[in-house]
Amino acid sequence: MKIEKFELERLLSQYENTVKYNLTESGIHPFTLEELLSEEEIKKLVSLRMGYGQANGSIELREAVSRLYSGADLDNVLVTNGTAEANFINIWCNLDPGDELILMVPNYMQMWGIARSLGIAVKLFHLREELDWGPDLEELKNLITPQTKMIAVCNPNNPTGAVLSEEAMKEIARLAQKANAWLYADEVYRGAELDGKETSSFYGLYDKAIVCCGLSKAYALPGLRLGWLVGPKKAIKECWAGHDYTAISSALLSNHVAALVLQPEQRMKVLKRNRQIVVENLAALQDWVTKHNKLFSFIPPRAGAIAFLKYNMKINSTELSTKLREEKSVFITPGDCFGMDRYLRIGIGSEKEYLLAGLDLFDEVLAEIS
Ligand SMILES: Cc1ncc(COP(=O)(O)O)c(C=O)c1O
Repeated sequence: MKIEKFELERLLSQYENTVKYNLTESGIHPFTLEELLSEEEIKKLVSLRMGYGQANGSIELREAVSRLYSGADLDNVLVTNGTAEANFINIWCNLDPGDELILMVPNYMQMWGIARSLGIAVKLFHLREELDWGPDLEELKNLITPQTKMIAVCNPNNPTGAVLSEEAMKEIARLAQKANAWLYADEVYRGAELDGKETSSFYGLYDKAIVCCGLSKAYALPGLRLGWLVGPKKAIKECWAGHDYTAISSALLSNHVAALVLQPEQRMKVLKRNRQIVVENLAALQDWVTKHNKLFSFIPPRAGAIAFLKYNMKINSTELSTKLREEKSVFITPGDCFGMDRYLRIGIGSEKEYLLAGLDLFDEVLAEIS
């Protein structure tokens, strides 16, 4: 089997924990468990017996997840090891070699790589900058054939931070329904909207809609490696059979913490703290871009802790990222990881001083090359 390199993750995995300023992170400054839990909850946590736990996710957690999706109950939910496992299982269990997957781009290219390694044809439809990173729905419509078995989107989007309008969501669902194809939405940035207005889920828009989410981004808890799939019961049952092979179960400790985090009051607290960080940092980044307005421009993200900057310099994005990393120990994601040279993705979820210190060092490199 030929597995193409997952450019983004291969690059990040090598350097993200060794640089001084990691601005590739697309999530938010992570919580410690001490910040999150009461003494009593911590006491309970350390007294848990480390068995396997319920393989498709603890009842408490699946109930808490299902409450986030109108019309769902715990049998509509499969708990996974991060959203990454959810994405893997979705492609693996729902598509066959020779099928066509139509994928929104730019995107986190995990599903692209998995599908291609399994002999699934991947066709791309684009978010267009001239549409404020809105979808080219005409392009999507024209790509659909009788072999199209899934349309997959990332909403809110990585790397642009764009959010689909309700009309666009309905149109995508209508097109999927007309093609009798699965509609799959990676919604891992849901809950990290800068204006506090939570993005609608694709779940329930159509009876073949499956969505994923997790605690890595909006909830600032990537270390728990906790995600989930929500979809029609039959499909979720089949995905669970896939999960028997990929992982058996997710971590018992993570299930326990996640169920606490998703209790309505705690969830709101967590999302509010995270939103504050991103809103403040976006303002700081905007000031920095204004200072460099001959070199950079961007459409501000509506959700997520990332900004996708277009630049006006004659240097390739990977070269620029490498130079900054090697000379200043500041790490930013090159647009090349999304097939888009002359763009950079900058994480805005860190502590503000950390972001500003990284940008100051970027200034030194810019002074030299521009
Ligand atoms: C769109 C998208 N989906 C999935 C993932 C993987 O997330 P997790 O850490 O929950 O596995 C990422 C990580 O950056 C992402 O950006």
